[in-house]
Amino acid sequence: MKTIRVINGPNLNMLGIREPDIYGKTDYKSLCEMIENYAEVIGVNVQIMQSNHEGDLVDWIQESYKAIDGIVINPGAYTHTSIAILDAAKAVGIPMVEVHISDVDSREKFRQVSYIREACIKSIIGHGINGYLEAMDCLMETIG
Ligand code: DQA
Repeated sequence: MKTIRVINGPNLNMLGIREPDIYGKTDYKSLCEMIENYAEVIGVNVQIMQSNHEGDLVDWIQESYKAIDGIVINPGAYTHTSIAILDAAKAVGIPMVEVHISDVDSREKFRQVSYIREACIKSIIGHGINGYLEAMDCLMETIG
């Protein structure tokens, strides 16, 4: 069975509490359960991680080299700032799908820049938390 990682960046642990009009009312724990249940349905091992620290995301991408088949990533605000996360993604060359709960492309100008996008096979934006499941489907189409 293939193994994928779902990597979440800063403030995603605050789901359900943070700006529910933008990010919805589902909390982070429920998101993780939803991802775990879906992984069982589609037959893939999933490791879900979240950190508020940029270096953790870099470490988790690096660690994935030769160990993980695909990555779903929502780098949160680091999407718009982190060349380090982009470089890590390019270094490992693992199929990666970018997810954003909100429609970053129609929000503030600073959210319309995504460094990680360049290293991703697809970006799923503005589909709420269901975007994570779509990203998992997309990865499975690629890594089988
Ligand atoms: C986000 C969008 C980012 O701009 C923001 O900083 C986040 C969440 C999203 O999922 O919509 O933390 O990545």
